[in-house]
Amino acid sequence: MKTNIQECNFNSLGEELSALDTDNLLIVVDSRVWQIYSKELEENQPNDKKIYLYKSLEGESTKNISEFEKGLEFFLEKGIHRDSYLVAIGGGATSDFAGYLASSLLRGLRWSVVPTTLLSMVDASIGGKTGINSKHGKNLVGAFHLPENVWILEEFLDSLPKEELDSGLGEILKYAFLDKKIYELMDSKASLSQIINACADKKDKVVQGDFKEKGNRISLNLGHTFGHAFEKIYDLPHGVAVFWGMALIFKLYDGEKYLENLRTFEANLNANFGAPPWLNKTFPVEKIMEYIKKDKKKKSIEEVDLVLVEEIGKFKTIKVKFSDIQNKLEQNIDELKSFNF
Ligand SMILES: NC(=O)c1ccc[n+]([C@@H]2O[C@H](COP(=O)([O-])OP(=O)(O)OC[C@H]3O[C@@H](n4cnc5c(N)ncnc54)[C@H](O)[C@@H]3O)[C@@H](O)[C@H]2O)c1
Repeated sequence: MKTNIQECNFNSLGEELSALDTDNLLIVVDSRVWQIYSKELEENQPNDKKIYLYKSLEGESTKNISEFEKGLEFFLEKGIHRDSYLVAIGGGATSDFAGYLASSLLRGLRWSVVPTTLLSMVDASIGGKTGINSKHGKNLVGAFHLPENVWILEEFLDSLPKEELDSGLGEILKYAFLDKKIYELMDSKASLSQIINACADKKDKVVQGDFKEKGNRISLNLGHTFGHAFEKIYDLPHGVAVFWGMALIFKLYDGEKYLENLRTFEANLNANFGAPPWLNKTFPVEKIMEYIKKDKKKKSIEEVDLVLVEEIGKFKTIKVKFSDIQNKLEQNIDELKSFNF
């Protein structure tokens, strides 16, 4: 099955919802998004279907087991049936949560997503990974459940806080190195709109070729191995941490040749991530290693697959022992502390 990815406005979204083959819609909307956009959403909701609206908690706070139970019971109480249709409206946290509800209710309902953050437009809403967090870690409970449609309304970006916008821009920069067409778009300062569409398309293509993440889907992990550690240690938005994770990969493993592109594209996207979070501060190798060793994507207790850029549009992975990563960081620590490319 393939996901249909389509640009919309509030009006055409209403038409798409009306055209769904169901007599009832289960809408899960991020409560912050509802606060800002309830008028537009209500004005355009289909009037030929019964609508059950569930306001999930804002962002990440909704991705837990007790909220999940609340969501399940809310919809089950309404007497839904196998042809009920779920629509998630929110950022990646909402689509992860709502998609997992869709995968579990009555053993699986059809569903679609309206992403409202930049990160979810280019990444989280696409690919069918759904789930919630456990006290043992992020995204540890979930299912693969592909949405039928991703309807992108760029209007949602108007209200997005800067930090959330930066997070999306960091993830977008990653795609420039994985796809020649996106590289060229960034090089020619194409509009954000064109870039969003190209990134969404790229993610969709990668996922179609590797739904269960046994092969090429790992390429999307570029920058994430160090990025996850930086996200926690320096308390950075996810995509910004991925940006610095990528910079470090380019410095230590890719002979620095892509660092200049990274800065140019950052400027072309009107992003400004400033200086590295570790510049003239601590660069806690032990702590970084602790997070890398906890990486969910690691395939063995001794080593991890690092994603590198072989040439623009082509990635490769190398298996690296944790002890080798640690040595490399320790050997370069003085240079890294003052590294401000
Ligand atoms: N399933 C996947 O493939 C995948 C991929 C990447 C990330 N994720 C997940 O996505 C989540 C992060 O998602 P995110 O970055 O989209 O953010 P988010 O969903 O956590 O939302 C961030 C904040 O922005 C608010 N918000 C959302 N849309 C808004 C808008 N238009 N205007 C104003 N405020 C708005 C939310 O209420 C929240 O406070 C994480 O849980 C991550 O694990 C999933």
